[in-house]
Amino acid sequence: MNLDDTRLFAERDPHRVREVLAAFATQCREALALVAEPVVRRARPTLVVGAGMVGSAAGGDLLAACAAEQLAVPVVVHRGYGLPAAAGKQALVLASSYSGETAEVLSSVEAALARGAAVAAVTSGGRLAEMATARRLPLVRLPGGLMPRMALGYLFLPAARILARVGLPVASAGDLAEAVEILKTMAGELGPERPVAANEAKRLAQALDGRMPAIYGGPTTAGVAYRWKTDLEENAKVMALAGALPEMNHNEIEAWRAPAAQTLHLTLLRDNDEPPEIARRFAVLRDLAAPAAGGVSECRARGAGRPARLLSLVYVGMWLSYYVAVARGVDPWSVPLLDEVKRRLR
Ligand code: F6R
Repeated sequence: MNLDDTRLFAERDPHRVREVLAAFATQCREALALVAEPVVRRARPTLVVGAGMVGSAAGGDLLAACAAEQLAVPVVVHRGYGLPAAAGKQALVLASSYSGETAEVLSSVEAALARGAAVAAVTSGGRLAEMATARRLPLVRLPGGLMPRMALGYLFLPAARILARVGLPVASAGDLAEAVEILKTMAGELGPERPVAANEAKRLAQALDGRMPAIYGGPTTAGVAYRWKTDLEENAKVMALAGALPEMNHNEIEAWRAPAAQTLHLTLLRDNDEPPEIARRFAVLRDLAAPAAGGVSECRARGAGRPARLLSLVYVGMWLSYYVAVARGVDPWSVPLLDEVKRRLR
């Protein structure tokens, strides 16, 4: 498959996902200006719960990764119905659903209201927006028309702003501006016009060569590894594995054996401020798994601040999954089976 043949993209990407991805930095810049109305009044909650599913949970994963070393308050991501028992009156629930129609998130909002927890909704519409409007809950109204997983800037950055507003900042304005700048630069480096030889995402897609991607992050990038997996599954319709160091050193490492591991491609997500003990673990993992693996790739975060480092890695994964979709001849936009699940459960 020649990913430098630009005719492929017009043929195989009828919904022009390439343009949505190319505009990701612009989306993030616009997202920085979006605010909740009315404003969130709960000052310094003792627990923050990001309630959402997959594409709309990914913003919560990024918040949690930014918060981990900064906030004394836990930020947890809840993927499912209801809420964890710990989410009581002092909690802030960020209900995140791009469509506003996701049953699990609507159920989390009901649970939060029943328990007297503060709720803020981040959505482009649907029943979540209706509920928020009817109850005068803080609502960030997002522009519509995207696939939820492609609206990550909208789902992440206004939620970070809400946290800052309640006294729990997870990133400085400078860190957020840096992230937007880096994404802008990367758009030129990763898009379809950039040839394979100079395009990291195309190279990673070619390196997979039909093997199952197994993506590992470190302590701060575990959520990004999971995001790569879900993008590969939803955009490219291929199965993928995701895990994190150090945990995988204690279990999955045993599965990296010949001949079975020949069907897997090991992908390591590296962060610049990895503690030395994690860097050593990546090196040992590579040494032990590479001889058995079908292939090995590494992708390195860019930037100084945590938002840039996380979003730069996520962005490579978005383009990678796009190129795998195009190479396989599947539409990177539609998710017919996911739609069918939702239709049957309505
Ligand atoms: C579809 C997608 C999904 C959705 C998930 C929840 O593009 O990305 O992972 O994010 O089905 O739906 P929303 O985001 O509308 O709450």
